[in-house]
Amino acid sequence: MSLEKNSTLNHVSIIMDGNGRWANERAHQRVWGHIRGSSVVSDIVEEADDLGIGALTLYAFSTENWSRPLTEVKTLFSLLKKFLKKEKKRIIKNQIRFKVIGDITGLPEETKKLVSSLEEETRTFQGLKLTFAFGYGGRDEIVQAVNRFIKENPGKELDMNTLDECLMAPELGDVDLLIRTGGDQRISNFLLWQIAYAELYFTQTKWPDFKRSEFRNIINEVTQRERRFGSVVETNSLDSSLTLAEKNKQELKEMQIGTP
Ligand code: FPP
Repeated sequence: MSLEKNSTLNHVSIIMDGNGRWANERAHQRVWGHIRGSSVVSDIVEEADDLGIGALTLYAFSTENWSRPLTEVKTLFSLLKKFLKKEKKRIIKNQIRFKVIGDITGLPEETKKLVSSLEEETRTFQGLKLTFAFGYGGRDEIVQAVNRFIKENPGKELDMNTLDECLMAPELGDVDLLIRTGGDQRISNFLLWQIAYAELYFTQTKWPDFKRSEFRNIINEVTQRERRFGSVVETNSLDSSLTLAEKNKQELKEMQIGTP
């Protein structure tokens, strides 16, 4: 089935799982899976761009991943560096807006510089918003957002829209689709706030075997799903569902029935 260039799924996020098992099945060390996995990252970024997806957020290193063997941690750091060096030209050519969310203070200086210079260079680009979650944890992000709000608004009450604005990359918006490769069906502390109404897709395929064609098929399948955002009729966003809710509440109020 063909797919239009502009996907209706604005924000797609992926937990790129199964690298270690993929390598072990081939009698290789786990890091070999990450190395193969990083070339898949390039393919999927290109495919997301081709499909006209608005934002792609990839879980590359979680706060929990710090507890992995040092060689594995170092490999993941060096893969980020290699990716930035290799893909920089293509990212700029395709007007991709690059960003990292998470805590990268523990990364080597050279890698941190590469990240910040690419972020700066692509800051105003209007193409795909490519975000790596690195040194990232969803709970951590929420706590930081709340603390930021308290600091900037002492004594004020926090509401949902304001919390949205205090996140690490508010411009990405809610996640429309979360894909996890590798067969497990968990969220693993990824974008906890943003996935409230996300469609979930779990595939057995381990990340190093994840192909552009499977990605495209998933996008195609999920695009056909009916999304109701808590309503009984299909709506195209959480906002329109909430607008309908407000309208209903108002009408009931006017009829002096009140809501339960
Ligand atoms: C989980 O697989 C995956 C990660 C912890 C890292 C994902 C990183 C990459 C795909 C490469 C990074 C590339 C860039 C460009 C930053 P796992 O090892 O936990 O898999 P397992 O469940 O089989 O052990």
